Amino acid sequence: MSAFQAPAGTRDLYGVDAARLEALVARFARRARLAAYGLVVSPMFEDVGVFRRGVGEASEVVTKEMYVFEDKGGRQLALRPEGTASVVRAFVQHRPVVPWKVWYVTPAFRYERPQAGRYRQHHQLGVEALGSADPDLDVEVIALLAGFYEGLGLRRAELRVNSMGDASCMPAYRSVLAAYLGARAGELCAEHKATWERNPLRVLDCKRAPCIAVRAGAPRLADSLCAPCAEHFARVTAGLDALGVGWRRDDFLVRGLDYYTRTTFEFASLALDAAQNGIGGGGRYDGLVEQLGGPATPGIGFGSGIERVLLACEAESLATIGEQPLEVFVVDLTGGGEARDITGELRRAGFSADRAFDDRSLKSQLKHADRSGAQVACIVGPEELATATVTLRRLRLAPGAPGGLGAPGAGSQERIARGALAATLDAWLR
Ligand code: HAM
Repeated sequence: MSAFQAPAGTRDLYGVDAARLEALVARFARRARLAAYGLVVSPMFEDVGVFRRGVGEASEVVTKEMYVFEDKGGRQLALRPEGTASVVRAFVQHRPVVPWKVWYVTPAFRYERPQAGRYRQHHQLGVEALGSADPDLDVEVIALLAGFYEGLGLRRAELRVNSMGDASCMPAYRSVLAAYLGARAGELCAEHKATWERNPLRVLDCKRAPCIAVRAGAPRLADSLCAPCAEHFARVTAGLDALGVGWRRDDFLVRGLDYYTRTTFEFASLALDAAQNGIGGGGRYDGLVEQLGGPATPGIGFGSGIERVLLACEAESLATIGEQPLEVFVVDLTGGGEARDITGELRRAGFSADRAFDDRSLKSQLKHADRSGAQVACIVGPEELATATVTLRRLRLAPGAPGGLGAPGAGSQERIARGALAATLDAWLR
């Protein structure tokens, strides 16, 4: 075992896993761009106050799980546990024109108990849209995420939607809920026995059996919504229906962060274990800009865990995402100069190409070619060099490659003129 390992709850991503992550980010970036969301990149650490705002109900993510440290200048900083508060801090700082629609990809750090699908560093794809309270914006944001999942081929991602109300109706609900919980406090899980009074909403979020049992009979947020919140919710759900986005109401979806108002939503993968099946979620946070010192500005967004999405893809057997096999491996038996020139030429022509180094034997280079996953080996020996030719050998068929009658099968090979290389590869591979 090496002296150092990646810290508990973190993972090194490389090979197929990294290729899948790359593919997810690329697909997400494209969808975000089509909907006019621009990329935002903000620091991985912030003043701790950006996340710990000291108002409302504190979430575990912020009270218990945050990585907080002091820098050499004595500043209290925190590694970002999520993306939203940083984006809102950037909004308040720069005051861009609204609506400000942005997307991001970021690591997020939470000191959680590591397990499959739950890490201390995970990665999120997300969007935030600031400056409009229009329910159509809620619909746009939710539909963007639904379309992303659908585009990946996920069939078992269930959308759950709720409304958290606003400053005018939420306090009343909290009191009703607290009264209900007070009468049954003895039945709650050990943690919430101690904290229900301070944070009654968190009980609704608790994944432990005693709290789940108590929750079943709890008053529903839906019955406490004021007329404007009820109207907003009705317009959001009507919009989702109009776009054909399937959804289900979840009366107790309060989400694990403290800033939500009105719409909250979550996608659960029914192909994953219930404890870690949240593949993405978000909602409105119409008071957060003010909490961070900006002018009253509504906002909505979501974050989707890349690792969880990949687990869901795997569970639904969508394993080919990100698979982009190497196209050509150049085997050079003339000293390496040909491999240098041909890989350069192929890459300029838009083919992915690799080669061996260190002037290895034919056997060793072919082994390397095979291990690389390349579809075609382009072999140059002294004879090819003398006659300005190359030998192409098909190593394997790419998924989805033209494989019908007349297409060369794996193992077949052909000597062609060096000048015809790109055109022949085009016919073989594209
Ligand atoms: P969140 O639900 O805390 O929301 O996290 C978003 C997503 O990140 C989750 O749905 C899940 O897929 C993934 N995730 C969270 N924690 C972990 C973990 N420990 N390991 C692996 N994946 C994890 C937010 O962070 C909000 N900022 C979302 C939002 C954006 N709301 C409004 N705008």
